[in-house]
Amino acid sequence: MENKREKIIEIKNLTREFEDGVVAVDDISFYVRKGEFVTFLGPSGCGKTTTLRMIAGFDKPSKGQILLNGQDISALPPNKRPINTVFQRYALFPHLNVYENIAFGLKLKRVKVTYEDASGKQFVKKEKLSKKVIAAKVEKALKMVDLEGFEKRSVSTLSGGQQQRVAIARAIVNEPEILLLDEPLGALDLKMRKDMQLELKEMHKKLGITFIYVTHDQEEALTMSDTIVVMKDGVIQQIGTPTDIYNEPKNSFVADFIGESNIFSGTIVGNRKVRFINTTFDCVDDFEKNEKVDVVVRPEDVVLKDEGEGQVDGKIISSIFKGVHYEMVMKVGKSEIVIQDTIERKVGEKVSLVIQPNDIHIMEKEFTENKYDGYITKRNTVCFGDGEFDCDVTQLYPGSFLDEEGYLITTEGDKIDLTDVDVNVEVGLKDIEISDDENAGGAIGNIVSMIYKGDHYQLIVRTDENEEDFVFDTEDTWNENDRVSVVIAKDKIKLSLKQEIKR
Ligand SMILES: Nc1ncnc2c1ncn2[C@@H]1O[C@H](COP(=O)(O)OP(=O)(O)OP(=O)(O)O)[C@@H](O)[C@H]1O
Ligand SMILES: [Mg+2]
Repeated sequence: MENKREKIIEIKNLTREFEDGVVAVDDISFYVRKGEFVTFLGPSGCGKTTTLRMIAGFDKPSKGQILLNGQDISALPPNKRPINTVFQRYALFPHLNVYENIAFGLKLKRVKVTYEDASGKQFVKKEKLSKKVIAAKVEKALKMVDLEGFEKRSVSTLSGGQQQRVAIARAIVNEPEILLLDEPLGALDLKMRKDMQLELKEMHKKLGITFIYVTHDQEEALTMSDTIVVMKDGVIQQIGTPTDIYNEPKNSFVADFIGESNIFSGTIVGNRKVRFINTTFDCVDDFEKNEKVDVVVRPEDVVLKDEGEGQVDGKIISSIFKGVHYEMVMKVGKSEIVIQDTIERKVGEKVSLVIQPNDIHIMEKEFTENKYDGYITKRNTVCFGDGEFDCDVTQLYPGSFLDEEGYLITTEGDKIDLTDVDVNVEVGLKDIEISDDENAGGAIGNIVSMIYKGDHYQLIVRTDENEEDFVFDTEDTWNENDRVSVVIAKDKIKLSLKQEIKR
């Protein structure tokens, strides 16, 4: 049934590049079915609000199309779209009371009314809505958000949650086909947020209209949505139902973002056999032998047994009571595994674990090597990734050496000037280090991502200038947004010529 419903919104290759070069939304495509509750989920700055603003018509795409019921609406101004928005920072009119805030849009509205003149000819006039009609609509909207009797209250006397409801009432009173909600519960405390989540969900059911919702709260997305669109850096990472997204994350970003999970580096060692934490496990996904993969295991899917009775032994190194279950960390070799169980195992206890094949989620490894376009400088250093690094240029010609003037002398005795020669640069994930000292390395940037992979972190440092990424593994703990310089040993920078050099 669900799938049979028609598409109300279809987005094709939508891109928004701002004047300063920031690409907030990068070639995204998706559709929303009539009556669906779709949620955009992603960390701050990933482009959620920008996407919503383009759907609403407050912002223009740089590229791509937005179709409403099959028609391109790019040229329609916001007020001509059957769409209403509840903004991230709700803007009520402080000098108007609750009733006037909700009625505001209705009072401006003109509707077409058809009349007949004396000769029986029909003509159309645009008219305001009558006071009575407006009052009835406002009353209905107030009832929807559970604020009957609040008409005369000044909005400044309302609690945050009540103000939020007024903002929602103001949007639904126009009976839009589509309601856009940009983090509408962001300003509320946890308890209020939970209550409002349920109420919004209820409202969605009652109204039968399409909701496009934005949040960075994964739990909120999982409880409320029919479909979740996970975004990162302006790019869609995965689209699916909450269960799909939770159980079958497409990559380690999604796995890490959606709930607690263990992420390990693994290798496929045979037909449906994967090796991680020094143990070979049966799994259900088909991957090629010897392929390097990321393995995701949810903490609630790890079963603890007594030492020697499971698939691999280890030791409990921490245990915290979380209300319903204990959250324990077990150490196996160098790896740490987070486990949730209602039965406590004490710190120091030797235990064994079992993971069912079904609970082992395998994903293609996102990244195995950093690759850049670079060029050699006069000083025989290499520029890439918004930085300049010492390197060994003699690797470009096996057996060659540098003379006193810095020319490269090949085995044939040819003398080559490498200045400005274009090269491919490769740097392994284990060959990058970072330093607090901005002068220590060849490039400078901020840590924009940090994912725990069982026995190490995978970090991404992004430079300011051209947003070049350095992806690498480390056992050290850093913080997101730390400003660091990127240090790469001379012999770890692999170079190859883009083109043969003419001699
Ligand atoms: N008018 C603008 N000019 C330049 N850059 C902008 C503009 N609006 C947004 N951006 C940038 O675009 C990126 C995406 O912003 P957006 O507001 O869509 O993120 P978001 O996912 O809604 O984040 P949050 O969860 O913090 O609300 C950010 O890097 C932001 O700084
Ligand atoms: Mg936003």
